[in-house]
Amino acid sequence: MILSAFLPLLALPLASAFYLPGTAPRDYLQGEKIDVFVNTLTPMLNSKLHSLISHDYYDPRFHFCQPPGGPVKQSESLGSILFGDRILTSPYEISMMQNSTCQMLCQSSVPKEDAKFINDRIKEDYGLNFIIDGLPSSEMKRDSKTGEIFLDAQGFNLGDDETIPDLPALNNHYDIYIQYHARDSRHFRVVGVLVYPRTVNSMVSGSREPDCFASQPFHLSEATNNEFYYSYSVSFIPSDIPWGLRWDAYLHVFDPKIHWFSLVNSLVIVGFLVFMVAMVLYRTISKDISRYNAIDLSEDVQEDYGWKLVHGEVFRLPSRPMLLSVMVGNGSHLVMMCIVTLVFALFGFLSPSNRGSLATVLLICWTLFGCVSGYASSRTYATLGGDLWKQNLVLTTILFPTVIFSIIGLLNLFLVFASASGAVPFGTILAILLLWFLISAPLSVAGYFWGMKHGAFENPVRVSSIPRQIPPKPWYLKTVQAAILGGILPFGAAFVELYFVLSSLFGNRAYYAFGFLFLTFIVVVLTTATVTVLFVYFVLCAEEYRWHWRSFMIGGGSAFWLFAYGVWYWASRLSLDSFTSMVLYFGYLFLFSLLDFLVGGSIGYIATYFAIRRLYSSIRVD
Ligand SMILES: *[C@@H]1O[C@H](CO)[C@@H](O)[C@H](O)[C@H]1NC(C)=O
Repeated sequence: MILSAFLPLLALPLASAFYLPGTAPRDYLQGEKIDVFVNTLTPMLNSKLHSLISHDYYDPRFHFCQPPGGPVKQSESLGSILFGDRILTSPYEISMMQNSTCQMLCQSSVPKEDAKFINDRIKEDYGLNFIIDGLPSSEMKRDSKTGEIFLDAQGFNLGDDETIPDLPALNNHYDIYIQYHARDSRHFRVVGVLVYPRTVNSMVSGSREPDCFASQPFHLSEATNNEFYYSYSVSFIPSDIPWGLRWDAYLHVFDPKIHWFSLVNSLVIVGFLVFMVAMVLYRTISKDISRYNAIDLSEDVQEDYGWKLVHGEVFRLPSRPMLLSVMVGNGSHLVMMCIVTLVFALFGFLSPSNRGSLATVLLICWTLFGCVSGYASSRTYATLGGDLWKQNLVLTTILFPTVIFSIIGLLNLFLVFASASGAVPFGTILAILLLWFLISAPLSVAGYFWGMKHGAFENPVRVSSIPRQIPPKPWYLKTVQAAILGGILPFGAAFVELYFVLSSLFGNRAYYAFGFLFLTFIVVVLTTATVTVLFVYFVLCAEEYRWHWRSFMIGGGSAFWLFAYGVWYWASRLSLDSFTSMVLYFGYLFLFSLLDFLVGGSIGYIATYFAIRRLYSSIRVD
């Protein structure tokens, strides 16, 4: 009784403690100034995506109006910068509850050289992104499938190249609608921001005021210099949405049915697989084991066959134990990072009002779980009988981070040359390097020593002195073929969710179906583990005992499909015009496939190792 009376009280400070900085509500008085921040211009995903490069709002070639005294950079989180946000002040003057019509922002002039640049960006469907009271500018849309109304924060069009083909018109007037929620007669909160851009040839000769209702569109001429006005109107629209729910309209989950369908689909696959493995491991094998172990004194003495035959070989050391253990270590590190990030996301810690919080949490998890890579690598290496532990320690700590940073660094160089704003600024790079050197690397070393203390896993059977001959095996058990075949199922389980993640990534929309993503991830982990164990069982039955690398390759086989899918997505959904965009796309695709390979491979290897240990410790060897 007493407890239940106190519980709501206890919950109060907890609930308010959940507000991370920058997410507390802000009350505006009537007439109080509301800041408008501008973010980078990003390509919009309408039917096709034409570019992957974002541009600074104040890129001098755009000639957007600047605030008096120049724009001021806003501080942002690391993740937000990595995801391409560059947030600056703007000259818009908006006051709470004060409607205005056709206010002039500035008179801009675009020389003919830059007109071409702007027209090209219009043809590539670039969109502008404003941020008002932490909310992104959005368009109101209706989901064609469910009929629900939602706010699409993809940005709003820089111009219009559809009304008259080949003659792009510049949107130089913005109708800004701010939805407010009145707390009382004096305090108001912003709960929605809508921007509808228009093109209007508002310059009237003889007048110093723009005419925002002129019927002519405005085209930038590439033959002469252009003079025109930027203008805007503001309307405050009352709304019943309380402040706490203002993000709901933005976090629209497209086609929840398809998410469910795909999830159920994958669950069926996984159920089937787990059943298969259970069958194989517990029926066939227990039968085998009882037969192997039966003291059979009858005449037909049981010959060893199948996987039992190679009991003297399964724990024979594989080639390149160094590389294998480094890959298993780094893969486990990434698995851990993904799981913890997804759990954070699931519990709603990645609030959309903290821009870039997903990337920030990923980065923090990556830094802190450095110890996992050291631990997993040292134990794997010891188990594989390696004795060059110092080399192993150094390689575990620096090999893959260096590869990954080099790829990202190269792509960043490309962005710098394209003078795009997606390029990560020097300060951020320095911060990440510091995180790596000062926190992640020492943790990895600590994890390594901790792993050395635990030492190697003991193998349940001894290795025979003379290696057996390996009979020829069917084509589908050869390493590459097996990896490609084995990768189909984990990839198939993730495929639909991957489509949504890609669409929201390229559509510049936040992805918030984290529940689905989490379940999908679990399904993928289970599928990878079971498929690998199953394949390795077949491999051992074919008297091929070199399973270590095979299990890693089969587990990582989904990376092959991921890459192939990326190529297909590029061919069918994207039409990237510039070389830089292509390089970026394929660079990141390669990077993600590599990470997927490490993650899947180490799941496959670890699952198989324990399955094999279990298998061979249950037989009796004379
Ligand atoms: C502003 O204009 C909208 C319509 O455009 C109207 O509904 C609203 O009441 C006006 N607000 C004020 C404060 O005048």
